[in-house]
Amino acid sequence: MNYLEDKINTTSERKKDHIDLCLNESVVFNNKTNGFDKYHFDHFAATEIDYNEIDLSSKFFGKKITYPFLISCMTGGTDEANAINANLAVIANEIGIPIGVGSQRQALENSSFHKSYKVIRQNAKSVPVLGNIGAAQISELNHNDSIKFLIDLVEADAMVIHLNAAQEVVQEKGEPNFKGLLKKINKLTKEISIPLIVKEVGAGINKKSAKLLLDNGIRGIDVAGAGGTSWTAVEFKRNNSPNENELWNWGLPTTYCIKEVNKLKKKYYFTLIASGGITNGFEIAKALILGADITASARPILISVVNNGIEKTINEIHYMFENVKKVMYLNGASNIKELKKCRLIKTEDIY
Ligand SMILES: Cc1cc2nc3c(=O)[nH]c(=O)nc-3n(C[C@H](O)[C@H](O)[C@H](O)COP(=O)(O)O)c2cc1C
Repeated sequence: MNYLEDKINTTSERKKDHIDLCLNESVVFNNKTNGFDKYHFDHFAATEIDYNEIDLSSKFFGKKITYPFLISCMTGGTDEANAINANLAVIANEIGIPIGVGSQRQALENSSFHKSYKVIRQNAKSVPVLGNIGAAQISELNHNDSIKFLIDLVEADAMVIHLNAAQEVVQEKGEPNFKGLLKKINKLTKEISIPLIVKEVGAGINKKSAKLLLDNGIRGIDVAGAGGTSWTAVEFKRNNSPNENELWNWGLPTTYCIKEVNKLKKKYYFTLIASGGITNGFEIAKALILGADITASARPILISVVNNGIEKTINEIHYMFENVKKVMYLNGASNIKELKKCRLIKTEDIY
């Protein structure tokens, strides 16, 4: 097998493994929550809202969306991704919410699986689509033509760079070398015409990292905090590691990241995306109150679409937002802007 074939197989097979493991194995944090359980809504008995007039719509980089929620970047670059991405795109388009594609790294290696990425825009014509590439690839690129190619491939409205240091450092044949990343990001923000977003993959983004990213021109930050899918766990399962270690639960809980990164809103204008273990409307509402502009979810949506199909997954997302609506009513908020002004109470301040 020559080098190129080896690389083709490696990336594509890894993508298949990731889907399989996320669907069939327990790859979640096992001694850390995303933090939402530590907060309570400040029930507002004197609500004067008409429940039926509550508006759940929001905006994402200027475009109106049905709910402040997006389907996180997941897959592409393998045969299994064709149907999954097509179905996820139908869901996003039908509801009217943004959708991300999985890492487009494989699309730079050859054209065998370009279809698995393109299928997203083909099925999601009227909602924002987010392209995706890893920090390791950004660091090794010498010019930005490849990124422009990836943007065109999915007709992206925004490009996402994922920071996955913890995953790279435990991954067999990982690429834990992000040298020069910030400079490359800075250059990229100046050379592309769409917003650049940075996300983690489940270990969270702290205030210091967020500030560095914003200073280098990033316009959106998805904290992708700890408490949901653990990508070190995925890699441990992939390696068949006999011993799990502390890195299984590595990362900053989602709520902590939202609160910390939100402090930067005083100085910077950016979109704050909250994800990492979000599974229901109550967590979504809490994330928005803590400072998020929009929320996101990955593995729970993948599991639902594969196990339950398109219609049920659409209904599950609508159901999450029925609960957001009820929370809004009980907090006296008639739209998302007003919800974001509500407050949460920490457990220790109640009991
Ligand atoms: C099957 C699968 C593949 C993923 N691949 C990518 C990827 O290629 N790029 C990326 O930025 N994030 C990727 N993620 C990470 C998610 O976008 C998300 O940040 C992470 O899983 C935490 O969210 P969750 O707890 O809702 O799953 C993937 C997630 C899943 C479940």
